[in-house]
Amino acid sequence: MKPRNALGVKALSAAFAGHWGLGQGASDVLRAPPMTKRILVLGSGGREHALASRLLDCPGVEAVVVSPGNAGTTLAGLSNLKGDPLQVAREFVPDLIVVGPDALVCDGLVDRLSEAGFLTYGPSAKAARLEGSKAFMKAFATRWGIRTARYVEVTGHEQLSEALAQFVEPPVVKASGLCAGKGVIVAESFDEARAAALQMLSGDAFGEAGKVVVLEERLYGAEVSVHAICDGTRALVLPAISDHKRIGEGDVGPNTGGMGTVGPAPIYTPELARRVHSEMIERVLYGMQQEGTPFKGTMFAGLMIQPSGEPILLEINVRFGDPETQVLMNLVDGDFAKLLASAARGKLESEAVTIAERAGVCVVLASAGYPAAPRTGDVISGLEAASELDSVRVYHAGTSRDPAGALVTAGGRVLGIVATGASLAAARERAYEACALVRFEGMQLRRDIGQKQIDALVGR
Ligand code: AMP
Ligand code: GLY
Repeated sequence: MKPRNALGVKALSAAFAGHWGLGQGASDVLRAPPMTKRILVLGSGGREHALASRLLDCPGVEAVVVSPGNAGTTLAGLSNLKGDPLQVAREFVPDLIVVGPDALVCDGLVDRLSEAGFLTYGPSAKAARLEGSKAFMKAFATRWGIRTARYVEVTGHEQLSEALAQFVEPPVVKASGLCAGKGVIVAESFDEARAAALQMLSGDAFGEAGKVVVLEERLYGAEVSVHAICDGTRALVLPAISDHKRIGEGDVGPNTGGMGTVGPAPIYTPELARRVHSEMIERVLYGMQQEGTPFKGTMFAGLMIQPSGEPILLEINVRFGDPETQVLMNLVDGDFAKLLASAARGKLESEAVTIAERAGVCVVLASAGYPAAPRTGDVISGLEAASELDSVRVYHAGTSRDPAGALVTAGGRVLGIVATGASLAAARERAYEACALVRFEGMQLRRDIGQKQIDALVGR
């Protein structure tokens, strides 16, 4: 581990050794973009902890600050700053800002930070409509010939019966706007679909975000999350990840923000990767460029791979997934800070990183009562022992310090325990070994993260 001081600044010798002025000819120095030494990561989840620690490990990076952060983002050389993002940026003066949560991105924060002169990785508010408005995304995909589930847009309760009549099976009901991950109802009956749509349209369920509803044909198959780092015209696609959304083992019970992830997802064959790249990611980039709203940032395609092998685009997110990122940050080697900075500048340097041959597994440890009513304030122990295991990383999400300084739960998803290994099976075993060392009252975890994916590999 490199020595760092309490303010999150790496030892100066290490910083200067990586400085762009050293070892380069004068003309190279003139042409080279400025070094990324100071990075601000906005957000407070496991995703942001994983991004921040990965970025701090990059050559030349001296300080990474997370705002507002969590108890984990004050450790191992990271630090937190609280306050309005623009004020925090003015105080810290970062060379690069990475915006984590969907709500901040869709609200146009990347535009405001860029206008204030900060190099910011993420899409403009207009490009973020791909996530912020499902109605926009569906119409866009139709315009550019990108395969998504068949859908009908509904803007008033009087249209609902006619719209429902267009489906043979109960459709999936989606609030068009952002609803903190709760705006999708996979209805089991037409009555349930109707009730959900009416509640959304009335504004009772999600306010304005629900006043436009997308009814969508229900699809079956295996879901995968594919992230691409985009600079407006080009994309670097990262390994595909499988999330586990339901709270219960065997994929039962209510949906959550994600109870665990594994990657690379075995179902995602090179042939599928080729098709998704050309038929989806490049088409989205091309279409957005043609419509005058080029897409810079992380394009996170949520795909359904149908039993026939056909990939269908379920959703586009415009930021890193959580807990996908916790695994991804351990599957990409090289200078990730340079990659994001180059994308933000519109000149993607894909060669800054290499995709590792490893596999990774993230098991989420959630609090008692999650997802309906997470309990907070339970004391957490065992993290040091867990993080001392080889190839294990502990990422904090809903954690804080109580007045006595003890580490306590402070949200639904509390921790993400990530292990890597030469195979998914090895990574999984190590991740659960680490989980067994962590304790807090009421801790929930799924013991089947990655099991289905490993079984699929054995069955091949
Ligand atoms: P979305 O926010 O659109 O990804 O939806 C959240 C979750 O709902 C997805 O990850 C799927 O598990 C499920 N879902 C969304 N659309 C469909 C669909 N057309 N068919 C089946 N499940 C879906
Ligand atoms: N894990 C799903 C998401 O971040 O939206």
